[in-house]
This record gives sequence, structure tokens and C-alpha cells, in this order.
Amino acid sequence: MALYAAIVGWGMSVPTRVVTNAELSTLVDTSDEWIQSRTGIRERHIISNGESTSTLAVAASRDAMAMAGVTAADIDMVIVATFTPDRPLPATACRVQAALGITNAAAFDIAAACSGFVYGLTVATSLIQTGAAKRILFCATDVVSHFVNWTDRNTCVLFGDGAGAVILEATDQPYGLLSSDLGAAGDREELLMVEAGGTCLPLTPDVLATDKRFLTMNGREIFKLAVRAMEVSSLAALQKANLSLADIAVVVPHQANRRIIEAIAERMAVPIQQFYINVERYGNTSAATIPMALTEAAAEGVIQHDTNILLTAFGGGLTWASAVVRWGVPVQRLPVHGQAKTERSAE
Ligand code: COA
Repeated sequence: MALYAAIVGWGMSVPTRVVTNAELSTLVDTSDEWIQSRTGIRERHIISNGESTSTLAVAASRDAMAMAGVTAADIDMVIVATFTPDRPLPATACRVQAALGITNAAAFDIAAACSGFVYGLTVATSLIQTGAAKRILFCATDVVSHFVNWTDRNTCVLFGDGAGAVILEATDQPYGLLSSDLGAAGDREELLMVEAGGTCLPLTPDVLATDKRFLTMNGREIFKLAVRAMEVSSLAALQKANLSLADIAVVVPHQANRRIIEAIAERMAVPIQQFYINVERYGNTSAATIPMALTEAAAEGVIQHDTNILLTAFGGGLTWASAVVRWGVPVQRLPVHGQAKTERSAE
């Protein structure tokens, strides 16, 4: 019998502090008009006052667990996708696990930058399909502001901080990830990277005096490569699921830039109205953009039980990833803590 990993709960969290385009124009030579016309971004949320990658993840995860009706005792694996961990050691997933009191679970991070949610969904689903886990808390969380150079107008206007979480549960019903297509081009790392801060170029006083500890990017090149890679991998994911674009109700793309999304829509000849877009309020939150968008799309009723969704992402690495997901909570659920069997409540 085929085994699937249904998404039975979801949630998101962003920092309390909102930074508008007007505020950024007091830091660098830019304007609300330039940012909105080139990127579609109006504002973003940036951490302050004790917030971190894991605090955002924990808040998003609590909502996802509540929606799924599960407790800490029901989860046997915690996976976090991030390129901005709380610390080099331990994995942020371990800190999330501890904060949520999930004692009986494995925990680890994966890093695939902005493609992290689709990569992680693929890894988590595979672990459920092999029987290594039954119910996984998977959270994509990034504090990109940690690596932003607030004097570089080319990059500082684009990014924000946030987290999105899902609960994945083993089921024999065809929900959750139906297919995915993952790719990478490690030989193009220079197009989008944080050069210093790892073992290759440690943060010595000399290095700290340079821009190498910040995120740098070739925006024009990334734009072109992102559009092409997301188109090609979207079509590959559809083919693997034996579906066509006509079977897809909603596309939830990585939210980096409204113009990139519009270019993909045009190349795939899919009406832009079928794309869920919320980049205007959050900017590019890296791995978190897709689960945040899924959470908002579900809350607005844009995605519902049985909706076929196409996810597509692109990011540093370079990496790209697309997936076909069937949204919906199976009627028959795995037993949760203290209960024999649960029935799906109306979503
Ligand atoms: N405000 C005002 N002017 C700015 C600016 C800002 N925030 N950022 C850049 N500019 C300037 C540039 O310096 C350049 O000036 P110049 O012509 O005098 O050199 C001018 O605007 C045009 O730059 P250009 O690179 O052609 O703009 P663009 O239309 O390509 O838009 C990006 C720039 C960064 C918005 C766009 O390339 C992009 O979105 N790239 C993808 C980035 C991305 O999504 N990365 C993450 C992927 S996961």
C-alpha cells in the first residue's frame, strides 16, 4: 500500500517589528516607489527583543500542532530548514524540540536556503514513507536580517524574517507531497552567498571589517536563473506526479520578488491570479516564504481540502525545487496522545 505524508496542521510566525520601505529610505538611497515597482515589497518583519530563528519556529510550530490536534508526545521527529541557525551547534531543531517539550523525537536541520521548504518536505515525506517516522514537525525558519548589510541598497530592501511550520503524518490516503523535483548548481555559489563566517573564511577582525560577513548577490543574474529554473522544475514535478498545469488550482511560489513570480506565470501561461502572493507584507523570508504563504492561503480559503498545489522555489546554492502537493487532512488519522483515533474536524 502506498504511504503518504499528509499535512495535518500548519502555522506561521513573524517578528513583531515591521520595517516599511519609508524607514529603509532613511538608511539607504532608495524609495518606496523604487522598491514597490521593482519587487512588489511594501514592508517586512525584522527580529528584535530576544526574537531569534528558533523563537519564530516555536511560535509557528505551536500553531501547527494546535491545528493538527497533537501534543509534544505525538511527534517523533523534528526537522528545521534554515540557513540562519540560532547557533553553529546544536541544530536549531534541537532547540525547537526542547522549547516545545518534544522529548521522544529525533531532531536535525537541513540547509537549502530559499529552497529549504520543498527540500525539507521531500526529506520528511521520504522518512515517513520508509517508516523512520510517523509524525514529523517540519519548520522552515529564517532570520535573513542577520546577514543583511543595511548599507547595501541592492540587497537590504529585499529580505525579511519569518517562520512557517507543518505537521506531516503518515497516511494511506493520497494527501501531502505527490512529487518533487530538486536541483542544485554548486558551481554558481558566488551569485548569492555569505562568504565569511564558516570554516573556509572565519570571522577574524580583518574579515569582520569587510562586507564578506554579509549576504551578497548578483540580482540581475539571479532573476534570470530563478525564472528559468522554477519553470523547468515545476514542469518536471508535474510530470513526475502524472499531472498537468490544468490539474493545478493554486501555485504557491517562493516569495522573493513579485516580478519574478509574474515572469514565471507568463512563461508557464498560467494566469497570475492562480499564484498566491504575499511578498508585499513580508519580503523574502527565505525557506519560510512557502509555508507562510500556505498558511495564509489556507486561512483565506484559497486552498482547501483536495486542492492540488504546485510549489516552486529557488535560492542560494544555487538550489531550486518544485513539488506537487494535495492539500487536505485525511478522515482517518493516526491515533494521537490519549486518544484511540481522531476524525478530521472541518477545516
Ligand atoms: N533603490 C534604488 N535604486 C536601486 C536599489 C534600491 N533599493 N537597488 C538597486 N538600485 C539601482 C542599481 O544601483 C542600479 O543603478 P545603476 O543603473 O545606476 O547602476 C539600478 O537600480 C537598476 O539596477 P538593476 O539591477 O537593473 O535593477 P533590477 O530591475 O534588476 O532590480 C533587483 C534589482 C535586485 C530587484 C532584481 O534584480 C531582483 O529582484 N533580482 C533577484 C533578487 C532575488 O530575488 N534574490 C533572492 C533569490 S532567492
